[in-house]
Amino acid sequence: VDLKALNTLGVEANARYFLDLEHEEQVPLALDWAADRDLEVLILGGGSNLVFAGEFPGLVIHIANLGRHWERVDGDEATLVLAAGENWHESVLYAASSGYRGVENLALIPGTAGAAPVQNIGAYGVELCDTLESVTAYDRKARQWCCLDAGECRFAYRDSLFKHEPGRYLITAIRLRLSRGRPLQLGYRDLEEYLANLPQKNLDPLAVAEAVMAIRRRKLPDPLQLPNAGSFFKNPVITDAVYEALKETYPEMPAYPQPNGVKVAAAWLIDQSGWKGYRNQRVGVHNRQALVLINHSGGSGADILALAARIRASVWERFGIELEMEPGVVGGDGLPSVSV
Ligand code: EPU
Repeated sequence: VDLKALNTLGVEANARYFLDLEHEEQVPLALDWAADRDLEVLILGGGSNLVFAGEFPGLVIHIANLGRHWERVDGDEATLVLAAGENWHESVLYAASSGYRGVENLALIPGTAGAAPVQNIGAYGVELCDTLESVTAYDRKARQWCCLDAGECRFAYRDSLFKHEPGRYLITAIRLRLSRGRPLQLGYRDLEEYLANLPQKNLDPLAVAEAVMAIRRRKLPDPLQLPNAGSFFKNPVITDAVYEALKETYPEMPAYPQPNGVKVAAAWLIDQSGWKGYRNQRVGVHNRQALVLINHSGGSGADILALAARIRASVWERFGIELEMEPGVVGGDGLPSVSV
């Protein structure tokens, strides 16, 4: 099965077996089928956060179950239940146009609802974990269904339990606790600037989602036009001492204080190292957001990973900061498979 259309980097890759999973009841059956044949399993959502580095010799389970409904509506609060195969961005628009707040800043993030908790998607000052109530998943280790609450998901910046135990949980639904009354989060710099120039002052969640969409469209490439996997690296957290030393030379370096150090903008580090807009015949770095790698023309996963390695090396050389990759790598040189 050709997976090119199922990864937003548009990399050619093959899987030996493939299943479009539309019904939750198929989960244990499909897993048993793979186990009986000693096959590795890859759980695939929107394919927007992974790099296929080679052929996948096992079973790809494409999560395609649909459905959304409201649960526990009381007063201003309600829980929105999303089947894992639902498109994330459409779900955001659905919540926001229903007047519920909590995920409007996460508009236009590619991928599915079920993949959202894996990397704890975040943008414009909001993370999924701010509203996520629980996740329904099949636990492959315990061979049973489970419901994990937000605490059990061990969320952190672009991180969760699901990244630490790759392949163990197959997420089939997520539950978001939303509210009509909670304050809108308008403080992220780009968003604040954009809203200041709008004539309309009485904002509802849909207007915020639309603002986020406009900002993203200015900076971030549409994967259908320029295949990409969003931010390719995490924003690194460095120690206060390392930050203070770098600040001497680079006083303009964007930095955000954290409980455990200082988070610095990977895009800025890459940009300063001269990579923004770089391209070879196949792959390159986006010319408006240095954190995004682009597959311009027939690039392979190996081409993308080679470019990423060169970028990491030059940021390390110049700043002494190690960049960590955000997307998971599938196939190739024995790297572990991940669920995304
Ligand atoms: N910057 C540069 N050069 C660039 C781009 C940005 O110097 O080419 C500087 C900007 O001037 C700014 C800073 O870097 O001071 C941060 O840039 P930006 O606000 O664009 O955000 P980011 O930290 O690069 C993160 C997320 C994005 C998310 C935006 C907005 C990560 C790894 N990335 O990017 O998430 O949309 O904030 O909240 O945390 C994704 O994960 O796929 C993604 C797109």
